[in-house]
Amino acid sequence: MSVGCKMFGFVINRKCSATGARLGVLSTPHGVFETPMFMPVGTQATVKTLIPEELYEIGTGIILANSYHLYLRPGTEIIHMAGGLHRFMNYRRGILTDSGGYQVFSLAPLRRITDDGVYFNSHIDGSRHFLNPEKVISIQEDLGADIIMCFDECSPYPCKYEEAREAVSRTTKWAERCLQAHRREDQALFGIVQGNVYEDLRIESAASLVSLGFDGYAIGGLSVGEPKEDMYRIIEVMNTVLPEDKPRYLMGVGAPEDLVEGVKRGVDMFDCVLPTRLARHGTAYTSRGKLVIRNAEYRDDFRPLDEECGCYVCHNYTRAYLRHLFKAEEILALRLLTYHNIYFLIKLMENIRSAIQEDRLLVFCERFLTRYSEPSG
Ligand code: GUN
Ligand code: ZN
Repeated sequence: MSVGCKMFGFVINRKCSATGARLGVLSTPHGVFETPMFMPVGTQATVKTLIPEELYEIGTGIILANSYHLYLRPGTEIIHMAGGLHRFMNYRRGILTDSGGYQVFSLAPLRRITDDGVYFNSHIDGSRHFLNPEKVISIQEDLGADIIMCFDECSPYPCKYEEAREAVSRTTKWAERCLQAHRREDQALFGIVQGNVYEDLRIESAASLVSLGFDGYAIGGLSVGEPKEDMYRIIEVMNTVLPEDKPRYLMGVGAPEDLVEGVKRGVDMFDCVLPTRLARHGTAYTSRGKLVIRNAEYRDDFRPLDEECGCYVCHNYTRAYLRHLFKAEEILALRLLTYHNIYFLIKLMENIRSAIQEDRLLVFCERFLTRYSEPSG
């Protein structure tokens, strides 16, 4: 049984009367953050195109980085020598590192999985590597994030029951080894629930992790191609097993409609590459849905990206200008859209928290979803 991380705390201050939503506060050695929250992704120790001051200005709390990428490049020891990830990348708020479990299974070729760990080739230079629970914890302790994740096996979609069951069994054994290996008291360790779309496997996975005792619980292996109804059903099932007083983190999920649906089902933390990736491909979130800035209709449209957005970009730039930057392949376009998209999600979560606080979440969600699914004008 884990004694838990002493510098980490989670308190729930309010619960929604109509849904499973919770309003909480997460304390870490690098600050105190309100939940439900969205964590922007900085895979390679940078939230692509933005500097930390811009993230602070937006109101970002915790960001996510990937052990898999940083272990391969620049190498864990370089970041350790720099004094840890916070110093290396100059980010003074919270950082969470993913274990590499997912990346090894989605990015690296020539994988060989054994009960001990995973052999794989680097997606960068083809070099051969081996990761197991002990090594992944050691990497994450060297990186020094506030929250670190267990090494897990994420099964693909679709996936046969038997294969999903084996992934759960391995994930449970690896979680126990991660807990054993974890030493640093200033880092929280989260377990990751697997089990694909099978409810009994999900329940078994969560129950095993809960009996081991983690600082928080992540729901992994979702948004991998399964229908949305399956994803929502699996999130809901978690409420029957996960302890109320620990944070719940839905990994890799962050489309605006999924944030809303996740919060209603009790999720406290989300991360997703979508806002930053879509931005670099010229798509902006707006209160009226997604807007593709390259479209000819914006050629002479002198309104902001989203007339309801209070961000720096929407205060100062027009759709016509942003479209021009994209067409001219100017790199400022990538920065401005990234800034706006992250602001949009951080603000959405702020609005969600106010709605929970004032016990009007259902009304807020319905209005948000209705307007978000209308065509942008
Ligand atoms: N990111 C998105 N999904 C997953 C998952 O299932 N496991 C891990 N480790 N990271 C993820
Ligand atoms: Zn904006």
